[in-house]
Amino acid sequence: MRPAFLFAFLVAPCSLFGQEAPRCAWDAAPFATPYCAELVATPDLATVKGMLELRWVPTPFGVAVRPDGQLRHRLVARFRGLPAPATLGGRVFVAWGYDLTHREEVRLGVVTNGSTSLGELPFEYFRVIVSAESSATVSTRRGRLVARATSPNSLMLSHRDAMAPMLVTSTATAEHAHHGASAEEWPTPPNDPRIAPAAMQHTPPSTAAWRPDSTGREVVPHRSREMVRLRHNDTLSLTAGLVRRSVGGRTVLMYGYNGQSPGPLIEVERGTEVVVHFTNRLDVATTVHWHGLRLENRSDGVPGHPAPAVEPGGSFTYRLRFPDAGIYWYHPHVREDIQQDLGLYGNISVGERGASPGRQEVLALDDVQLDDRGQLMPWGADTASHALMGRFGNLLLVNGEPAWRMTVSQGEVVRLALTNVANARTFNLRLPGARMKLVASDVSAFERESWVESIVLAPAERYVVDVRFDSAGVVPLVNSVRWLDHMRGTTAPAEDTLGTVMVSRAPRHANDTFERLGERRDVQREIAAVVAQAPRTPQHTLTLGMRLKDVTPQTVAMLTGIAIPMDWNDAMPMMNWALSAREVAWTLRDEVGRENMQISWRFRTGEVARIRLVSDPGATHAMAHPIHFHGQRFVVVSRNGVPVPNRAWKDTALLPAGETMDILLELTNPGTWMMHCHVAEHLGTGMMGMFVVEGRDRVK
Ligand code: C2O
Ligand code: CU
Repeated sequence: MRPAFLFAFLVAPCSLFGQEAPRCAWDAAPFATPYCAELVATPDLATVKGMLELRWVPTPFGVAVRPDGQLRHRLVARFRGLPAPATLGGRVFVAWGYDLTHREEVRLGVVTNGSTSLGELPFEYFRVIVSAESSATVSTRRGRLVARATSPNSLMLSHRDAMAPMLVTSTATAEHAHHGASAEEWPTPPNDPRIAPAAMQHTPPSTAAWRPDSTGREVVPHRSREMVRLRHNDTLSLTAGLVRRSVGGRTVLMYGYNGQSPGPLIEVERGTEVVVHFTNRLDVATTVHWHGLRLENRSDGVPGHPAPAVEPGGSFTYRLRFPDAGIYWYHPHVREDIQQDLGLYGNISVGERGASPGRQEVLALDDVQLDDRGQLMPWGADTASHALMGRFGNLLLVNGEPAWRMTVSQGEVVRLALTNVANARTFNLRLPGARMKLVASDVSAFERESWVESIVLAPAERYVVDVRFDSAGVVPLVNSVRWLDHMRGTTAPAEDTLGTVMVSRAPRHANDTFERLGERRDVQREIAAVVAQAPRTPQHTLTLGMRLKDVTPQTVAMLTGIAIPMDWNDAMPMMNWALSAREVAWTLRDEVGRENMQISWRFRTGEVARIRLVSDPGATHAMAHPIHFHGQRFVVVSRNGVPVPNRAWKDTALLPAGETMDILLELTNPGTWMMHCHVAEHLGTGMMGMFVVEGRDRVK
């Protein structure tokens, strides 16, 4: 008995990848998901069936990318019915990878019946060809063709072909029912030179245009963020109000906390409690939600759950507690698409007791959308515009500034604590030439530190990196992504600079702690404990989807097609702008078919729930969604059936289109809580549900 048990224990971790469940069904329609492609055999090989699977590459982020933002996948070929190679004039079958022009060839390896792992290809769109070769070591393809597959995303290109007539000649109007009259005229959305100009005319959104109004309200000049260090039982006064500031060279009316945007940076030690007296001087109702804090339910800032929203002129007292070290943030939980976008957000840095982390810079990453005249694009008056993809800005901001600057000296290590406060954009951030060590995420450190080349940061997520600047000079902070043009079906590299780091010449000093990759046994122990306690099968499954109402068949046709795992940009700006929450409803559906606010799961404190999140690849216009749970913490334990090897406590995690992830939700904090997508406009269409936690408070 004993040796067998020991053997099983030893092989289990290594075989996890080997025994990974297939990702694609044999009978799946070609292009059914962005992760499966048929390996089509030549017509004379009628009994051969082949499948090319794009499998998950382990990453500490929501999606694995190369430094330029190109998605990474491990390729696996699966075959049935391959004859003996000799019958086809060879000794072995070899798989080869190509870019679509066939200019570049990569030898992927020998394939047989069953599953063969082929590694990764460096191409965005690609083709895989299997040939019968005379030896396993041939360096270029000579033998006869056996089967071929094309990357599923290539369907984007046929979309281009189908759309070509529309690009050139059509004056078709994508129309939808026009409810409410515009109080203010909608300007045309900004033209992006990187996107094909829309030949289709779009009526403006079916909700009136809205901008903040200063009539009868106090407007203060914008000031930069101040740092507020609070001790146990301290009190902070926080006021939301109108600020006048300059953005992109234009004076605009925006919102701020205490005249600041970002609002005050609150620094506290873990285990303390503070009081925030909040006053609303806006012209609209608001709340403050303390994102990621496991605080008392009444201070969570969700209107009606349980405290009501704070009306204009009203006030509310929030009691905050900080059980976990990490980077948190605060923002309204009312019309986030407007209020957060207008500048209502701030950070909280919770440090370990008595520890000084060295130099830390807290950066909030954001974007705003300016029209062609440099004014902020209006928002939907009674419901969110940009309800399809979310509102992507065309001006990127760090701590509210379009040209953020930091100075360091050569060899210095700076801890960057990053928060994505944008409505919809996922960033892929790089500091070319600097070395980055990933240390922590939302609610805790990672089990193990790791070297990273870029940081993928979805809305509301936080990541903490230690960065060392080895050479003197200027290091830009860039967002490196693959920019999609939906009409043309093409992608192109796009790099936007958010700011610069000036590295001054200094004598090099050795920094051994930076070179070492640390481990956090405390985090490993805590996570191992919830993994041990959690059930093997999910108690709840949330399927992410979308419904269209009141739209023309033309619009539906535009939106149907292959799902791409990640949208880094707004690839169809006119269509996106024109669709409001009246036409688009993003949905969370649970295992018994309840949707959005019909969902009301019940738990008890002390439980650990396994929840499976599934993004239906067949849904119309499936997209990536950052999903947030209030009041508790969770770990992502597997993605697409593959265990996540290096974990951290999270409150928000990104689920790319067509993917599946299992999270373990640790239930410690009693109350009525929300779970929702953190794309502000998706939330605005109702993409949220509730869960109730009963029992005594177990947050320690
Ligand atoms: Cu940061 Cu419910 O939100
Ligand atoms: Cu979403």
